[in-house]
Amino acid sequence: MDYPLDLSVTPEVEAFFDPESNTFSYVVKDPASDACAVIDSVMDIDYAAGRIAFEHADQIIEYIRSNGLTLEWIIETHVHADHLSAAPYIQDKLGGRIGIGEKICVVQDVFGKIFNEGTEFQRDGSQFDRLFRDGDTYTIGTMAAFTMYTPGHTPACMTHVIGNAAFVGDTLFMPDGGSARADFPGGDAGDLYDSIQKVLSLPDEMRLLMCHDYGPGGREVQYETTVAEEKANNIHVGHGTSREEFIKMRTERDATLNMPRLIIPSLQVNMRAGEVPKDAQGNPMLKVPINGLQRRTE
Ligand SMILES: [Fe+2]
Repeated sequence: MDYPLDLSVTPEVEAFFDPESNTFSYVVKDPASDACAVIDSVMDIDYAAGRIAFEHADQIIEYIRSNGLTLEWIIETHVHADHLSAAPYIQDKLGGRIGIGEKICVVQDVFGKIFNEGTEFQRDGSQFDRLFRDGDTYTIGTMAAFTMYTPGHTPACMTHVIGNAAFVGDTLFMPDGGSARADFPGGDAGDLYDSIQKVLSLPDEMRLLMCHDYGPGGREVQYETTVAEEKANNIHVGHGTSREEFIKMRTERDATLNMPRLIIPSLQVNMRAGEVPKDAQGNPMLKVPINGLQRRTE
């Protein structure tokens, strides 16, 4: 695939950190206009209490409003398993189109079964405004952006490249963090290795913006690196790690990891583009499939 690279454009990137899920959300602004995009927003949840709130999203909304920006896109790099998206809440306040990778249909099919969703749950991605394919282009004001299909962590992961900045989702972590797990239903360590190589084939100076950082070794959280730094120093894929070595390492490591605390609410909400599901009476309600996730991940 020949991607339409344009390193001459430097988008203005504002990062918002959610310490509950160690997620970075971004506002990405066109330097030549007031247009912006939001990438990977977070809805707050107190799962024990069944309570949702929008403090994190309100910070982003306030930033966009106070800077007089126009929100054109609300992007999800993938269906997150560790936090809930605030995309519909932000769209309701500020407009913009919600976009995700077209393979969302695969994710909806897999988790539609796990959560025993009825036929009213559409598995065609129609909850989203735009489904991106590999190499698709779109604009944020005057800025050109394109998508790279980077599956492995999930089957629907996309990297969004906007000027000289690539938003990699969970395809890569900071060099000392390595890579994300590949053991969720539909994930694949070999695919993840191939996707990482695709990202690392971008120009050395390309900025890489992370979706997560866990501050390994107690350091401050960080969210930005470059292709050159990842190639040289990434602890899972740097130094020319082979595909076989990576798959072995990733598979062994994933077998030791617990499910993310919020995977059950996150998937039900995020596969609906951030809408909370409703019961037969129309009340917002979440399900817990007993032994459903484990059975299918073994
Ligand atoms: Fe993720």
